[in-house]
Amino acid sequence: MDYQIYHFKSLASTQDKAKEFAREGLFNVIIISDLQTKGRGRFKRKWHSSKGGLWMSILLKPKNAGNLQYLTFAAAIAVVEAIKKNTKIKTNIKWPNDVHYKGKKLCGILTEGIFGKEDYAAVGFGLNVNQNHFPDDIKDIAASLRIIKNKKIDIDKLTKNIIKEFFKLYNNYYNKNKLKTIIQMWKRYCDTLNKNVIVTTKTKIISGKAIGVDENCNLLLKLKDNKIIKIIEGDLRVRY
Ligand code: BTN
Repeated sequence: MDYQIYHFKSLASTQDKAKEFAREGLFNVIIISDLQTKGRGRFKRKWHSSKGGLWMSILLKPKNAGNLQYLTFAAAIAVVEAIKKNTKIKTNIKWPNDVHYKGKKLCGILTEGIFGKEDYAAVGFGLNVNQNHFPDDIKDIAASLRIIKNKKIDIDKLTKNIIKEFFKLYNNYYNKNKLKTIIQMWKRYCDTLNKNVIVTTKTKIISGKAIGVDENCNLLLKLKDNKIIKIIEGDLRVRY
């Protein structure tokens, strides 16, 4: 698959740059920035993006820009597999989009659709690679590969592998509508399932047992009274 990489020293957000490029009709384009001044996460949260991390967006023009949640799943799988290959560190996925190591967040993924005459998707990867420390507000919940390994990581090599793994999943499964395979692979790395969790949604806090995901990647939660509900969006707390 042909793609082009644009590497910047600083950007507000690689997601915003991806949107700009989409307006120009570009796709299969990868935007990387050494730092972001306005990096953002899910629910419009600020995403800490200092030097040392991998801040990257992959701009795509999928055949079917529905099912964007599957791109998030594919991205998380690609990150777990590339980390394993490059550093031997075994990481896990927390529904829907966090890659973590022993409960500390290493990577978040933000997939945004850009809908118009033609549809695009920007898959944003925020991976903590070579940071030595984090600001006070996230230092207890974040980890970097360098802190885990106690040595500097070859970020370029890792980036190349993430891109390679991601496009493999994108071309072989997402674009061929083999979405079940993506879920199966995702489940192998996801350690949220069969755990008691507390979910915070926009309107409430619910506790229950995470028992699976449905065909739209929503989380299925079994409540105390055995009722099963669907969680479309929310933050999850799991006891590891
Ligand atoms: C999350 O867990 O909330 C998702 C975080 C996604 C952060 C990445 S960094 C690269 C891309 N550009 C952004 O502004 N956000 C995403």
